[in-house]
Amino acid sequence: MTDETELLKRLFDTLEDYHRTRNMGTLVDYHPPEDLAELLELDRPGSEGDWERIFDWIKKYLDYGVKTAHPTFLNRLWSGSNLPSILAEMVVAVSNTSSDSYESAPVSILYEKHMIQQMLDLVGFSHGEGQMTTGSSNANMLAMMCARNRSGERVKEDGLSGQSKLYGFVNQDAHYSMDKAANILGLGTENLIKVPCNSSGEMDTEELETAIESVVVDGGIPFFVGLTAGTTVRGAFDPIPPVLDLRKKHGFWLHVDGAWGGATIMSDRLREQFMPRLNKVDSFTFDFHKMLGSALMCNVLLLNQSSHTLGKVCAAGDTSYLYRDSEDNEVLDLGAVSLQCGRRVDGLKWFLDWKFYGKDGFGKRIEDYLDLCVFAEECIRDRPELELVAPRVSYNICFRYKVPENRADAFNKLLRNTLYQRGLYMVGIAYVEQKLVLRLVISNTEVTRDSLRCFFSELVSVGRELDNGSE
Ligand SMILES: Cc1ncc(COP(=O)(O)O)c(C=O)c1O
Repeated sequence: MTDETELLKRLFDTLEDYHRTRNMGTLVDYHPPEDLAELLELDRPGSEGDWERIFDWIKKYLDYGVKTAHPTFLNRLWSGSNLPSILAEMVVAVSNTSSDSYESAPVSILYEKHMIQQMLDLVGFSHGEGQMTTGSSNANMLAMMCARNRSGERVKEDGLSGQSKLYGFVNQDAHYSMDKAANILGLGTENLIKVPCNSSGEMDTEELETAIESVVVDGGIPFFVGLTAGTTVRGAFDPIPPVLDLRKKHGFWLHVDGAWGGATIMSDRLREQFMPRLNKVDSFTFDFHKMLGSALMCNVLLLNQSSHTLGKVCAAGDTSYLYRDSEDNEVLDLGAVSLQCGRRVDGLKWFLDWKFYGKDGFGKRIEDYLDLCVFAEECIRDRPELELVAPRVSYNICFRYKVPENRADAFNKLLRNTLYQRGLYMVGIAYVEQKLVLRLVISNTEVTRDSLRCFFSELVSVGRELDNGSE
């Protein structure tokens, strides 16, 4: 008979070993996909009871994966994860339930509702509601869906046909999830107007006004404006106050996608600097799994509405076999007011991280990150081999290694891939005004001034090596 206690202990030992060394050694033992597929022995049969093989595949997973908590992992808007979150995820795996109904997940539901109230208070939506979604992509879609359903009384029941054309507006640098939302919701991606931005990447609100007026003249309805708090590539924050004024005139739903930069809500100083008057918008989303370090995925969508909007927008079909709440009562069956049926328990890690670090702890973390970004910018300015490609406005630093313009894109791509494939560093690449840039973001508690100095030294040294090789 299998000794499950021994198996669990063995797993914990393996995980403890991984966690202890997560910021040591190389970032990744890189292999191209065909070679890795062989190493993973994908076709090797397993069999019930063969725990050795199971542990072997677990070991391979850890050995060949990317160490996202390593200070050399500078690539994504998330990295590593908070220890309370890690503990929570283990508990969730062992207890396995669906956070859609109070009956099946009473504790999870109350944790989630408590956290939503905490966040509503923090943002200043005094009579709001909210829910955890599967990430900001889906939160953006749900916000757009609330806006769409408000645009006509029977849109939910009758669909969009026969109604005036709806137009949404976002920064040209907005996240692609906005286009996906327009597609999924039947609005049409062409009807999501991309508003030009200024040289720092912020939406140009005069251009927004012009774009809105031109659709109104043609009989269209400007139903949704999605501002971004922290654009994915440049880290720009669209200005909220002038768009609030425009909303008075045009009555659109005003959403703020703070997937990345929304975390600045944790610091009163940074919130005032980056998101003034956030408490007046219609909806706001941000990811706890990005800058704040909760385990993936951990997101919340908050609505500045008190009229069971989520229930009205999301509920459809007969759910009486599963849910017990009526619309007038306090909703405890969160599945009834969300887009899924089964819901992963994401509330536990959120709750534990919040209790452990609190607003002050998170506020300090994001203020420290910003200081590190300022330092990184100085390092780039100090190195003649490097140049900034876009001004740094917050947490994103878009730069490149200087070589003649005609080979700059290919060279920087090669440089980035070489650093990665040698297991040294993983930094993002993206395009800013058609130029390929290295996008450095700091959302990793392991990153320090020293680790950044090492990063720039290594980058320049590999850059020189590649540049000499190409001559
Ligand atoms: C501005 C912005 N919005 C939305 C998203 C999507 O977030 P998620 O991965 O949680 O779906 C991202 C992801 O990077 C983002 O940068």
